[in-house]
Amino acid sequence: MDKLRICGNGPLNGEIRVSGAKNAALPILCTSLLTADTMRFTNVPMLRDISTTQKLLQGMGVRVMTDNVHEMEITADHLDSLVAPYDLVKTMRASILVLGPTLARFGEATVSLPGGCAIGSRPVDQHIKGLVAMGAEVVIEHGYVKAKAARLRGAHIVMDVVTVGGTENLLMAAALADGTTILENAAREPEVTDLANCLVAMGARISGIGTNRLVVEGVDKLHGCEYAIMPDRIEAGTFLVAAAITQGHLILRNAAPRSMESVLDKLVEAGAIVEAGDDWISLDMKRRPKAINFRTLPYPAFPTDMQAQLMTLNCVAEGTGVVTETIFENRFMHVPELNRMGARIEVEGNTAVVHGVDKLSGATVMATDLRASASLVLAGLVAQGETIVDRIYHLDRGYEYIEKKLGAVGAQIERIS
Ligand code: EPZ
Repeated sequence: MDKLRICGNGPLNGEIRVSGAKNAALPILCTSLLTADTMRFTNVPMLRDISTTQKLLQGMGVRVMTDNVHEMEITADHLDSLVAPYDLVKTMRASILVLGPTLARFGEATVSLPGGCAIGSRPVDQHIKGLVAMGAEVVIEHGYVKAKAARLRGAHIVMDVVTVGGTENLLMAAALADGTTILENAAREPEVTDLANCLVAMGARISGIGTNRLVVEGVDKLHGCEYAIMPDRIEAGTFLVAAAITQGHLILRNAAPRSMESVLDKLVEAGAIVEAGDDWISLDMKRRPKAINFRTLPYPAFPTDMQAQLMTLNCVAEGTGVVTETIFENRFMHVPELNRMGARIEVEGNTAVVHGVDKLSGATVMATDLRASASLVLAGLVAQGETIVDRIYHLDRGYEYIEKKLGAVGAQIERIS
């Protein structure tokens, strides 16, 4: 299993190009199931989860072409199978996102029920509740969600919790439903907006995009189009934290600053000098970071996917920072590993109190989930001595060539196979 070896090497300096967003690409690639035409996607990140999605679609009989890096042509003119099998879904929960579009277009779908994961139980009850409201018959048996509907019909759905995946699945289903669907308390993450914009480019009728009330007028047919995936705000945020904790200066290109204002605000609060244009962000840190308090909440508030990374900043900051995780019930798995590197973090329920220390010390640490692994890489950039991050397959799910990108701006980091 691959590992990363990292040695603290002082301030990072230079430019990094941000990749396409994993959490936008995963649902957007599934829109190809809504039309018989070819969909052409650009700015597609080269990630393990993208390859899993490709395998999932090809397993259903979809044709996928990837001649050019970061581009994909997908044609779902006919399907051999309407099943998303356990073996793939267990490796990537987002496979559930084929449920809505497959059911909407083919009248039937069978998807392995995603189990829990390291960060929480993560039920999909809201996805199912919405499809049932749209007239689907749904049964769960033998570990699979089996859904049937001659044609989905519009419905007024109030989501009990703000769910990104639930909103995305129902948005895709509603696009081909008979009548109007209203999604109340919908997620408004930038990735949901990117998906909605892609659906509109295919001929869908959606209003309220970017708000928590989405109105979808179903159409009989959607057509193919070309769509560029938005930049990854979490990858960008991770690199900005790397610049801040090493007291360096980074410029990010192909970024989307307007999709990550809460993160930029927190970095400014920690003492960073942040400037941004339409598609670039620069961060300059001329001092030791100041500790910050933050609470994860649905967009536009502070994203849970940046919690672990900013906690690492607090580990070496001046003062004490309080971190509250409200989205997932088990998203502090990085804490014991950071404490093994000399951090001083106390956890009480969903709150972590982080007492900043002058120095972390390198150690062999274990990644448990995608963002936890990113926080350990960041800690390695400022630790004394060598850090070995084990199980980086978690990292490869969401970061494209991270060691090359960080190496190019001065980090001492290498992959050990
Ligand atoms: C998406 O997961 C992201 N994944 C996650 O990013 C991200 O952490 C999360 O949204 C929140 O922003 C992708 O987009 C592929 P949710 P998702 O449904 O859709 C509860 C990363 O690091 N809930 O918004 O699975 C759920 O348990 C990953 O890139 C229900 O109760 O998240 C959680 O507590 C990790 N019932 C909360 O809602 C449901 O039916 C938010 O989950 C659905 C969700």
